[in-house]
Amino acid sequence: MKLKLSSKLNDIQISEIRQIVNLAKKDTINLGIGQLPFDPPAALIEAGIKSFQSGQLKYSPNAGLPELRELIALEHQSQTGKPTTFENVIITVGVESALYITFATFLDPDDEVLIPEIYFSVYDTIPKMLGAKVKTFKLNTDFSIDFQDLKKKITKKTKLIVINSPCNPTGKIVSLAEQQSLADLVAHHPLLHLISDEVYAELYFTPQKPVSLAKFSDQVIVLNGISKRASATGLRIGWIIAAKPITQELVKIQQYSVTCAAITSQKAAMPVLRGECDQDTARYREVLAEHRALALTLLADIPKIKVVAPEGAFYCFVDISAYGKSKEIAYRILADKNVLTIPGIAFGKKGDRYLRISFAADLTAIKQGLKALKAFFVTE
Ligand SMILES: Cc1ncc(COP(=O)(O)O)c(C=O)c1O
Repeated sequence: MKLKLSSKLNDIQISEIRQIVNLAKKDTINLGIGQLPFDPPAALIEAGIKSFQSGQLKYSPNAGLPELRELIALEHQSQTGKPTTFENVIITVGVESALYITFATFLDPDDEVLIPEIYFSVYDTIPKMLGAKVKTFKLNTDFSIDFQDLKKKITKKTKLIVINSPCNPTGKIVSLAEQQSLADLVAHHPLLHLISDEVYAELYFTPQKPVSLAKFSDQVIVLNGISKRASATGLRIGWIIAAKPITQELVKIQQYSVTCAAITSQKAAMPVLRGECDQDTARYREVLAEHRALALTLLADIPKIKVVAPEGAFYCFVDISAYGKSKEIAYRILADKNVLTIPGIAFGKKGDRYLRISFAADLTAIKQGLKALKAFFVTE
């Protein structure tokens, strides 16, 4: 079929993750999972049912229900000490939409965005679709930020720097010292903003809960949501927290793209923000910690691979460079051993040394999958 479509899409491909996931069969051992396998909290489901039963199926304000925004503002204020009101918050259709809205609000063609050299692919594709330039900054071998490189990469055209902590795919949490350095850095560039994707903030394995980057600087736009903390990716609820002059602009893109997030989903998210689902999230963390420990033990038994133990999220980003490039290895593991892993190239060129192995799978799948991976690698 002949089509004359926007040239914006010329360089945009369906993500590497989707491509390999589409090849998985029913009986494939799935270590490629990007969402939690748990039932969502009962309080969330009850609130959703009640919302439907009340028959309230109208639009909400574009920025979302004031009472939900108020709860998010309260949580943010208690975690950062920064005065925050509902006017600083916009409810979005997941963090994915929060990213689109934020990039679309800030970026003109030829503006520059800085992202880590190993990244969630959306940080690259959306700015490019908007005509902006994406540059990457280096990470050290433990996935911490190479500040010398980051500083060098800032130009007059740089408008946004994206930070993701805990990180998909590395599991790295940006340390308090790094957060302070980021704040000091942007203080020298008053027009520069940090986008802080904190969607995995509640899934951590460190003694202390990660602290929002917003605690360190007012030049931060926080993106967060309930997909991961409430095991509810399909509810599609995220949010943006920013200064009021920014949210006033962000809401324009929201209005002219999606109008508002679904009202039933917003109502279902209320108990999560009221703290009524904290025990569920704590349980997810406990189970994930057990899965992580098993995955790390089994991975340690595979010769010539390297793993930096993840501090958060639910992935091990495993250096398999002694055996070859990520795409070829992941596709061969799928074909030969029927185990799905995600090739690191899905997270940028620098990811090509790695496979992303999700431990949001059940214990049997982790055991069988990593046993099969060991068998694959020892015969290499
Ligand atoms: C780092 C990161 N940001 C954002 C998202 C999107 O989250 P949501 O389901 O809220 O759109 C994901 C989903 O996997 C993610 O890994």
